[in-house]
Amino acid sequence: MPVVEEARAKVNLALHVVGRRPDGYHDLDMLVAFAGIGDTVTLTPGDADRFVIDGPMAGDLRADGDNLVLRALRGFRELDGRTDPLAIGLVKRLPVASGIGGGSADAAATLRGLCRLYGRSLDDPAITALALSLGADVPMCLDGRPARVAGVGERIAPTAGKLAFGLLLVNPRVGVSTPAVFRALGRRDNPPLPALPAFGTGTDLAAFLAAGTRNDLEPPAKAIAPAIADVLAALADLPGVRLARMSGSGATCFGLFDDEADARMAGARLAADHPGWWVEPTEGRF
Ligand code: C5P
Repeated sequence: MPVVEEARAKVNLALHVVGRRPDGYHDLDMLVAFAGIGDTVTLTPGDADRFVIDGPMAGDLRADGDNLVLRALRGFRELDGRTDPLAIGLVKRLPVASGIGGGSADAAATLRGLCRLYGRSLDDPAITALALSLGADVPMCLDGRPARVAGVGERIAPTAGKLAFGLLLVNPRVGVSTPAVFRALGRRDNPPLPALPAFGTGTDLAAFLAAGTRNDLEPPAKAIAPAIADVLAALADLPGVRLARMSGSGATCFGLFDDEADARMAGARLAADHPGWWVEPTEGRF
């Protein structure tokens, strides 16, 4: 029986860079939501190992040993000892190197699938440590719940997730290197996030985000990829948009709307005006 796991896009509603560690990594304070769209990972026990990538973004990704799906599989096998042959399918819908954690979500979905297949607990500290070793965003994708996330990504405080809103994800089809964005950062000791109030509506959430939070990676990312500024300006101009911001280290930006229907309407207009951009309306929860 195949095991199917969704690898949802993560969206950084806010990302504050609050310090730098001796190893060069940055301490962050983030609000993270997951979108209704993502990649799909399917694990099927078979007679030989296979890895096949399909989907609209498959052409941007190599199915070699560096792929995070295969790195997750290797790491799991090292700690679990089992080497039963597996056919792994990845349907790649999220743009690669785009700030919405596509690769991290794929690695996390692979680990979730392997744990399900072989009856291991996701709370096993060895699995959590493996997730972090694969990338700073992998633990939060493994958890999968909206959260406030601190440290490099390992301190995860889930939120209730009851607040639903519309998201319009937009990428100008430019890949951005995360290390390059961190290198180009000005200040690395910015203030942390303010305390979170109880949000009644998506509009409350957007007002809170706009007034007291930022994505500190936006200025360096815009300097590296000026198209990000075009996306943010186009998003801010759309009817019904409550907030326009970049996610992660970019280049994907999001518009926050009261509901998915508003995001869809705005998305149709934006896609018509910018046929070269990746434009995906969806739902978010926090
Ligand atoms: O862990 P991950 O592979 O996603 O990180 C990619 C790069 O982003 C790191 O090599 C590092 O340069 C930078 N990074 C950072 N601080 C973080 C997360 C990532 O400096 N908290």
